[in-house]
Amino acid sequence: MQKRIIVGISGASCICLGVRMLETLRKAGAETHMVVTETAKRVLKEETGLSYGEAEKLADKSYDSHDFFAAIASGSFRTDGMVVVPCSMKTLGGIASGNSSNLLLRAADVMLKERRRLVLVVRETPLNLIHIRNMETAALAGAVILPPMPACYTKPETIDDLVTHVLGKVCDQFGIDIGYKRWE
Ligand SMILES: Cc1cc2nc3c(=O)[nH]c(=O)nc-3n(C[C@H](O)[C@H](O)[C@H](O)COP(=O)(O)O)c2cc1C
Repeated sequence: MQKRIIVGISGASCICLGVRMLETLRKAGAETHMVVTETAKRVLKEETGLSYGEAEKLADKSYDSHDFFAAIASGSFRTDGMVVVPCSMKTLGGIASGNSSNLLLRAADVMLKERRRLVLVVRETPLNLIHIRNMETAALAGAVILPPMPACYTKPETIDDLVTHVLGKVCDQFGIDIGYKRWE
């Protein structure tokens, strides 16, 4: 059966990961529902040159980040989970504190209350104690903390190899095999 995945994109660096996530899920045959924070729209343009409108075309459905009447704001809308990629420390803090002040945060809150898969591709370095405690809180509530860590055992040669590895790990969390290079 076709997977339905919510892709939240927040305003952290490496926003190309969010774009590639949408492309990867589409290629894997999944249905994507996208929500992008207001800051992420600006970081998207800054780091990739893509406009929000162009990114929207990569998703099956996209929602205004403040539309609490959207389908993904409700637990009764069936999904296979959500990935926040990249996940800023502000968005992580919002999730950890149960603050549903935008649609991305509300959708993530729904994942936790419904005990559905929530993967947070947290991006910041170095981390302060508040970040670490927020990760602990989110993990205890059921989220998977999946920072975009490179792996060298696959002998990556390009940035694309590193990105594919991270996205492969994310997709594994949803039972989607994108055929990335694994340790055998
Ligand atoms: C170019 C750029 C890169 C940023 N990178 C990060 C980052 O990697 N991690 C982070 O936590 N915040 C980063 N920020 C700061 C966030 O954008 C800021 O905290 C913002 O309030 C996040 O809002 P959002 O989570 O609602 O998108 C960055 C900001 C800019 C302009």
